[in-house]
Amino acid sequence: MSATGVRPELRVVTDSAPPSPDAAAEAPPGVPFLAVDGVGKDYPLRGGGSLRALDGVSFAVRPHEICVMLGPSGCGKSTLLRMVAGLDAPSQGSCSIGGARIVGPGRDRGMVFQSYTSFPWLTVRENVEYGLRLHGETIALAEGAGEYFLDRVGLTKFANHHPDQLSGGMRQRVALARALATYPRMLLMDEPFGALDAETRWQMQELLLEVVTRERMTVLMVTHDIDEALFLGDGIVFLSRNPGRVREILRPDFKRNGRPATKEAMYDAPGHRELERHVMQLMRDEGKRA
Ligand SMILES: Nc1ncnc2c1ncn2[C@@H]1O[C@H](COP(=O)(O)OP(=O)(O)OP(=O)(O)O)[C@@H](O)[C@H]1O
Ligand SMILES: [Mg+2]
Repeated sequence: MSATGVRPELRVVTDSAPPSPDAAAEAPPGVPFLAVDGVGKDYPLRGGGSLRALDGVSFAVRPHEICVMLGPSGCGKSTLLRMVAGLDAPSQGSCSIGGARIVGPGRDRGMVFQSYTSFPWLTVRENVEYGLRLHGETIALAEGAGEYFLDRVGLTKFANHHPDQLSGGMRQRVALARALATYPRMLLMDEPFGALDAETRWQMQELLLEVVTRERMTVLMVTHDIDEALFLGDGIVFLSRNPGRVREILRPDFKRNGRPATKEAMYDAPGHRELERHVMQLMRDEGKRA
């Protein structure tokens, strides 16, 4: 794995933002940041036999790219994300970071799970700061990385609450803040905004874009939502199901001069509407195949 195990240096990014690890370590030239190569996954069935969840899935994610996996329920998005996180192993093929095969979890990858996972015995602030404490990031803690992200996800007032005192959307924001606060080189997110109301969802999507662009993080995320995929994805891997296969890889051309910073800017971008219609058509086709 490209994670060296050496604690990255910390640096102050801007006057207002907390310190973050230096993203200096890059994949060697010509090597994608993440390579998913011929990945298949079979799950054993209780009564014998097996279920093929993924079959021959290949795609690459470049450094600093946001790659979105989009596709219908059950096409294997979470399964693939868990393999990139190192929480599960492919039955065929491999996933590699910087040319090195993924064999387990690493601190180079931060994960936001589909079911928002917070530690119920910790307060909101302690949950957000959990990763920093785990990795001994005392400078980042002292400089307020936890406070900064609590504020950015709008939960400062709830810092001393426990997760069971929060709504589903608030818990999702805790999980996002916790993942961002450790500044992972690769952020893995499984439908991180699914439980949010529309306006909070835009805000969190825009926060994510701002932080990953500024910090040059590489992102692999899962969504059901076409609008979210088009707004966040530099590359969109559309998966079909039974078994999960790559149906199409899309690169929004309307982003050739950079990522739109707001939803409004995306809607105004030439080519956005055509791509949206194309992806809707893919979704409808998949619906018919169900
Ligand atoms: N641990 C498991 N054991 C057996 N089958 C599993 C397991 N995890 C997932 N599957 C099966 O693999 C397939 C893909 O599941 P997965 O959760 O990856 O889909 P998904 O695309 O994330 O769906 P959703 O959009 O609903 O979250 C499904 O058919 C599911 O039943
Ligand atoms: Mg899923």
